[in-house]
Parts: sequence; C-alpha cells; structure tokens
Amino acid sequence: MIDAFRLSELNAGVWRRGDWVSVYEDRRLSPAEILLLLRHREPLSGRVLELGPGAGRVTAYLAELASELTALEISPDMAEACRRRVPSATVEVRDMQDLGGIAGGSLEAVVGTCNVIDVLDDGERRALLAELHRILVPGGVLLFSSHNRDHRARRPWEPRDWRNPKALAGDVVRLRDGVRNHRRLHRFERDSDDYTLRNDEAHSFSMILYAIGAAAQQRQLTEAGFTLELCLTDDGEPVDPGGAPDRSPYLHYAARCSSAS
Ligand SMILES: C[S@@+](CC[C@H](N)C(=O)[O-])C[C@H]1O[C@@H](n2cnc3c(N)ncnc32)[C@H](O)[C@@H]1O
Repeated sequence: MIDAFRLSELNAGVWRRGDWVSVYEDRRLSPAEILLLLRHREPLSGRVLELGPGAGRVTAYLAELASELTALEISPDMAEACRRRVPSATVEVRDMQDLGGIAGGSLEAVVGTCNVIDVLDDGERRALLAELHRILVPGGVLLFSSHNRDHRARRPWEPRDWRNPKALAGDVVRLRDGVRNHRRLHRFERDSDDYTLRNDEAHSFSMILYAIGAAAQQRQLTEAGFTLELCLTDDGEPVDPGGAPDRSPYLHYAARCSSAS
C-alpha cells in the first residue's frame, strides 16, 4: 500500500530533477486563470503566497498586482528561473507543505495554478488546506486548480487527438517513456469515493496525481473552513459543482476563507 509520505516523495523527486523548466517558461494564461486574476484583483493586491510557481508563468502577473509576493518552489532549477523572470518576488526553495514559519492571518491571497496541490495525497492535501486557512486573513482567497476526476484520464497508448498530426507525432515520440513509466507506477493508482490517485499523462506519465470532482472538492474546502465561490472549466465557463462537469480536464476554483481559525 502506498503511503502519503511515499506518494509526495515520488512526485517531489520528479519535480526536483528540474527537467521541465523550459516547458513552464511561458507567459500564456488560460481563460480561467485570466478570469480568476481579474475577479480577485483586490485580495491579490495585498500579501500573496504562490505555491509551486514553476518558472514564473503566473508569478509575473501576480507581481504586477501584489504588495508583497512570496513563492515556495521545490525545484531549485524552477526557483532560479522564476527569480530570473520575476526579480521582485521572494522565491524560496521549499516544500509548500512547510508553512509553519508563516504567521496566522498574515496573507490576503494564496495561489496554486496548474494543479500543483495534486502532487499530494489525500491526508496531505487536507492538512495543506487547513494550513492555508490558518495563514489567510478572514475573507482571504485561495485560487487553485485541480485535475477533474469526472474527466476520463488518457493512457499512454491512447493518442490525444487522431486528427491532429502534430499532437500525434508528439504522442508517438513519448510513447516508449510513457508506457515504461505507466508499467512502473500504475500499481499505485487508487480509487476512493471522493478522489482518485492516478498515473496522469503529465510529463510522460511519470507521476501519480490526485484528481477530484467538483462536488467533493467543495465539501473538502468546506471542511477546511473555506466557502467555494467559483468553479470554472479551463475555458473559463462557470460550472455547477453538483453537475459533475466532465468536459474539462482541470477545474479552477476560487474559495474564500470563511472565518478566523
Ligand atoms: C505543474 S508545475 C506549475 C507551475 C506554475 N504554477 C504554472 O502554473 O506555470 C508545478 C510546479 O510545482 C512545483 N512543486 C511540486 N511539488 C511541490 C511542493 N511539494 N512544494 C513546492 N513546489 C512544488 C514543481 O516543481 C513545479 O514547478
């Protein structure tokens, strides 16, 4: 049985290698990310913490808004790229689960884009949400995205799109690594009522990532003291969490810290 420590260590080991810095050296935002930033300009203009900033794709925009911006990144190479891109941000090489040094009620917003919290197991995820509730001011916001359990996951031998020759060529190039990683990792996959741990296609199927449906995510946020305000598809369409939306591989959430811890 895979335990929480081993799952997050497995994923952290993959990220620490710093193999994908160039993949995240991008400035493009998804429609959902643009909407979340626009709608939460006010809390984002205060003290902001970013979880797993990568090479600073979103950090660059947060730095334009925030009065104080700190980012916690587990990969030294990603952290270095992020510092180069956004010199005004304080970028620490640190596990995002290590928030003990941050004072309670000291931040107006926490941001974790591109499914960063999905590297954690269920217990770790719940503990992180409780910690984020502790460090946010009452009324502070948590903006994040997560893999959508109701969207069917692809296996390494399934092409993303038969009609797209460029995507097809990429899938063929990555097929061998994908199948090898999947063979090694699929025994760690788990299904529970509220979430799954699955060998996701990201980076040639090299990680086991958490996926959750919108209704279960809403319950989890409520248990941690947040109120879900908005749930969006990648295209920025609002979705009803109860409707089990399956058309978007990721869902983007805005939740508000309902009360002091
Ligand atoms: C999918 S990338 C997203 C990067 C960025 N947020 C973006 O949207 O472009 C996830 C990032 O989180 C970092 N990461 C993974 N696990 C982490 C952890 N436990 N603590 C801090 N950062 C972590 C990875 O190194 C990587 O840079």
